[in-house]
Order: sequence, then structure tokens, then C-alpha cells
Amino acid sequence: MFSRVLITGGSGFIGSNFIRHFLAARPDAHLTNVDALTYSGNRENLRDLEHDPRYTFIHADICDAERMRDLFSTADALIHFAAESHVDRSILDTRPFIRTNVLGTQTLLDAAVACKLKRFVQISTDEVYGSLPLDRPELRFNEDSAIKPNSPYAASKAASDMLVRAAHHTFGLNTSITRCSNNFGPYQFPEKVIPLFVTNLIENKKVPLYGDGLNVRDWIHVEDHCEAILAVLERGRSGEVYNIGADNEQSNLDLTRSILHILGKGDEFIRHVEDRLGHDRRYAIDSTKIRRELGWSASRSAWPDALISTVDWYIKNPDWWQRIKSGTYREFHDKLYASRPSAVGH
Ligand code: NAD
Ligand code: DAU
Repeated sequence: MFSRVLITGGSGFIGSNFIRHFLAARPDAHLTNVDALTYSGNRENLRDLEHDPRYTFIHADICDAERMRDLFSTADALIHFAAESHVDRSILDTRPFIRTNVLGTQTLLDAAVACKLKRFVQISTDEVYGSLPLDRPELRFNEDSAIKPNSPYAASKAASDMLVRAAHHTFGLNTSITRCSNNFGPYQFPEKVIPLFVTNLIENKKVPLYGDGLNVRDWIHVEDHCEAILAVLERGRSGEVYNIGADNEQSNLDLTRSILHILGKGDEFIRHVEDRLGHDRRYAIDSTKIRRELGWSASRSAWPDALISTVDWYIKNPDWWQRIKSGTYREFHDKLYASRPSAVGH
């Protein structure tokens, strides 16, 4: 067990869900959240914890080597969530992705080695494995699959995974890497497909479906992901990679229709738009290793209940997403979708 845990990126979607999960599961531990509060970081996500003596928020950038060293000197373990996380943004501008995901991760590794940190968990993604074909449903990514990232986002995450691997091999740092599939749940920034589509529909607006809508993603509820991360932190083997998924593959068209159905709307709310550049066709995760070694399994991701409860969260929390959608995010949204005309034939 680790009693003084450092989290990077804890004000984002998965990090904030993890902080809640961790403090509930380990009431005697202390957790420090280091976050630069970029466009996707939001202190509102954890407002109720601000006065909890077990929780400290530090406003800092993971690329700031001096501050990271200071913080590491009092921590046992680090869980590294901070990243630029949106594929479409990485297509518009790669630089923040290289800075935070690559240089930021190396800055943390340097501090961890210098301070002899006991444990370093890198939160990575299934996207480092690239894309699977739609006509080979038996294929899934396992931990030995080749690393073949296709987007600048995925390439920057793959690079950071390689740096973690090198720090383990060269300096003996106690590391594990997790690679999870697409998450959904409360507090997800409404640029990602589920909260974007749900909130558009609540506002009676159409949803922009890329290309033919047949791309497949493997959906897991964020709570299941958080439980898996805690298991890896405490029981994962050093130097190992753990894939995390819930065996829940859905085409984007089916996902969209499920959301439309939950909100009582029809296909006329779908706006078919030009495809994402380099759009990965299918992701599918084989999580046999973490289930076998750590006894974890997904218990909260089952469709449609988990999707219904997520939609319900956005219906009940309009203040949270309306503030975001009316702020600076608006500029990015308008730029992205203005350059994406409706697809021919729709
Ligand atoms: P997010 O964009 O919601 O949150 C990212 C957080 O990192 C924000 O709070 C932001 O302020 C912070 N941050 C960004 N740059 C920083 C910097 N330089 N210094 C300090 N803080 C910084 O992302 P998310 O969806 O919660 O993803 C978290 C992690 O999980 C990422 O590493 C991502 O690659 C990985 N992941 C995400 C998913 C998913 O479906 N969302 C799936 C698998 C893995
Ligand atoms: O697989 C894990 C990854 O999942 C994480 O590493 C990333 O951080 C996370 O953003 C997510 O990446 P995706 O690109 O799969 O998520 P996104 O929500 O952007 O898109 C999901 C699918 O929906 C994808 O096939 C593109 C499609 N899409 C997305 C948007 C934003 C649309 O059709 N229309 C849209 O407007």
C-alpha cells in the first residue's frame, strides 16, 4: 500500500474520477494532484474535496523540472494521467502533444529516478497499437501486439511509453504501464464523442458523425478503469504492461443510435460529416492478463445500463457542461467543425 500518492492530471476526466475512487477505497492515504489546468482541466470536478485534509491540489506544469523534484521528495508513488488527450486537436497542432506527453513524461521520470520514487504508473492508451481491420473480428490487442500508432496523439503516447520502459530498464525504476480502451462516464470533456453527442442532443442540436460511422471503439466505464489502475498501482509487476478493456465493441453509428434512443430522438439528428484524417478503423482490447494476474474484471460497463446512467449524469449536470461549451472551447469547436463539411451523399 502507498500512503502518499502523487497524481498528475487529476483535474481532468479520468484523473478526477480516480481521485474520488482512490480516497473512498483508501481512506488513510493522502493524495496530491498536480495539474496545469489546461483547457480540459477543471477544478470544479473536485470542488467537494477541496477542504478534505487527505487531498492537496498543486497548480503546476509537469514540464517544470524543479517543481517536480520538490514534489517527488515527499511522495511514495506517482500515477501519471496528465496529457494532451484529444486526437482531433493533435491533427490541428502537434506541438502541445510533444511537449506534455513526451517532454513532460521524461521530466517526471527524471524526478522519479533522482528521488528514488518507489512506484511509477504510466496511464497510456490502446491507441498506441494502431488500428484493427473490421473484417477480422477475432483480432484484439494484447500486451505483445506491435506498437503502431497512427495519430500524432497516439505517437506521442507511444513515445512516452518507450521512455517509461527505458527508465525501468536503465535505472531500475519500479514502473507499470496501463493501456485502456475508450472511457465514458461523468466529467468527460464535451469534445469527446459521448459527451459531445449527448449534450448536443440535450440542446436539440445535431451530432457530427465522422465518415461512414462504421469505425469501432471498445467502451469501458471510467469507474472500471479506475479500479484497474488501483490494482496495477498496488499489485502490478514492475516493468509490465497491462491492457484494460470491457469487451464492449460498438460502431460509432450504433453508439449514436443508442444515445438517440435514450434521448427519444431519431436519425434526423445525425449530421454525416467528412472523416477524421487517418481515422483508426477499430480498437479491441484483450484484457486476459490483468484479469488473470490481478483478479480485476469490469463490472460497471455493461451496455445499455452504463450508457443510460452516463446520459443521465449529463442531463442532471447542465451547469457543468454548459459553462465549458460556452467558454474558450467554443473557438476550437467552431474551427474544427467549420473545416469539416457535410459528407457527400448525406
Ligand atoms: P483530459 O484531457 O480530460 O485530462 C488531462 C488533464 O491533464 C487535465 O486536467 C489537464 O489540465 C492536465 N494537463 C495537461 N497538460 C498538463 C501539463 N503539462 N502539466 C500538468 N497537467 C497537465 O484527459 P483524460 O481523458 O482524463 O485522459 C487522462 C489520461 O488517460 C491521458 O494520459 C490519456 O492518454 C489516457 N487515456 C484516456 C482514455 C479516454 O478514453 N479518455 C483512454 C485511455 C487512456
Ligand atoms: O482508445 C482510447 C482513446 O479514446 C484515448 O486514448 C483518447 O484520449 C480518447 O480521446 C479516445 O480517443 P478517440 O479518438 O477514440 O475518442 P473520440 O471521442 O474523439 O472519438 C471516438 C470515435 O467517435 C472516433 O471513432 C471518432 C468518432 N467521432 C468523434 C467526434 C469527436 C465522431 O464521429 N464525431 C465527433 O464529433
